[in-house]
Amino acid sequence: MVHEVRGVVARAQGEAVTVETVLVPDPGPGEALVDIQACGVCHTDLHYREGGINDDFPFLLGHEAAGTVAAVGEGVTNVEPGDYVILNWRAVCGQCRACLRGRPWYCFNTHNATQKMSLGDGTVLSPALGIGAFAEKTLVHSGQCTKVDAAAPATAAGLLGCGVMAGLGAAINTGNVTRGDTVAVFGCGGVGDAAIAGARLAGARTIIAVDIDDQKLDWAKGMGATHTVNSSNTDAVEAIRELTDAFGVDVAIDAVGHPEVYKQAFEARDLAGTVVLVGVPNPSAKLELPMIEVFGRGGALKSSWYGDCLPSRDFPMLIDLYLQGRLDLDAFVSETIGLDDVEAAFDKMHHGGVLRSVVVF
Ligand SMILES: NC(=O)c1ccc[n+]([C@@H]2O[C@H](COP(=O)([O-])OP(=O)(O)OC[C@H]3O[C@@H](n4cnc5c(N)ncnc54)[C@H](O)[C@@H]3O)[C@@H](O)[C@H]2O)c1
Ligand SMILES: [Zn+2]
Ligand SMILES: [Zn+2]
Repeated sequence: MVHEVRGVVARAQGEAVTVETVLVPDPGPGEALVDIQACGVCHTDLHYREGGINDDFPFLLGHEAAGTVAAVGEGVTNVEPGDYVILNWRAVCGQCRACLRGRPWYCFNTHNATQKMSLGDGTVLSPALGIGAFAEKTLVHSGQCTKVDAAAPATAAGLLGCGVMAGLGAAINTGNVTRGDTVAVFGCGGVGDAAIAGARLAGARTIIAVDIDDQKLDWAKGMGATHTVNSSNTDAVEAIRELTDAFGVDVAIDAVGHPEVYKQAFEARDLAGTVVLVGVPNPSAKLELPMIEVFGRGGALKSSWYGDCLPSRDFPMLIDLYLQGRLDLDAFVSETIGLDDVEAAFDKMHHGGVLRSVVVF
């Protein structure tokens, strides 16, 4: 059986997204059909629409979601109909070189559904990050479903499916932030604020939030920032040095992905410190750094793909922390919207005013 649902589609580079009828097949072997309950609007959806990820238009957008398994295909054992799940884009294969070396959070051959979703005229859709959850139902690989405690509302739980997990993991997993560390986070959107929340969870003693928008900096304080710097009118590197006895921070996290911001992160870091790039750069961006500084400052320059998370390990644990009141996922939800409002949510992303808009069904 093929299900006809409404979904948000990006048809061409830079064009406004439209809500279209999407055809979703019943799950085949290894696949799961999921009724989406909530899906956050992540900056990466906008990168897709702007052609910044690849050219496989049309895209079925949305990838930060929670919902209920409606049906599973042959051979699926990890979930069953009725299970409450967060969708992930790291369904580890267990067999690639990373998995075989015991580093499944780098898995280079993650699973997606084999069958395709399409438009009414048969045009095959590319689901964003292999998910496509700005739709009433979506088809994924069963490994993309991570079962969590149903007591957590989908608006909050879904956020762990991408941006919030990426930010938390950038601090905790990639940056290895630990008790007593000093941390700076550049860009305080959903991802950056999650890095701030992660640094707080990990016991950082100083957490400096940097953004160009005072409203974002205000919210960052609520997430755990001990200090804020508006880099549109203050030299962020100087300000961070002043706040850290002139040394710089142990871990500097770039949650924007612009070369200028990366340079600030690079320079605002103490000797032997770590820079973590979690923001996704535009494909044409170039970075120039004095090589002697790369050597002389030591430490590590790392990228964080999805916060180096392992969904089966991290999602249920973080949902527990949420349910215990130790991780305020609700604070990331600025507004709940309908499927028809995704384009407007992209506008708000540019003009500030929201941390996360979350589509509810
Ligand atoms: N690595 C991953 O796995 C992963 C996962 C999800 C999202 N991302 C990426 O993370 C980035 C952030 O995503 P988001 O959803 O939080 O976006 P967002 O648009 O909500 O937030 C970006 C923030 O950066 C601020 N900003 C912009 N220019 C700045 C500058 N020059 N200096 C300081 N701050 C500046 C903005 O004011 C805003 O607060 C995006 O590039 C997104 O694609 C990466
Ligand atoms: Zn693998
Ligand atoms: Zn995302």
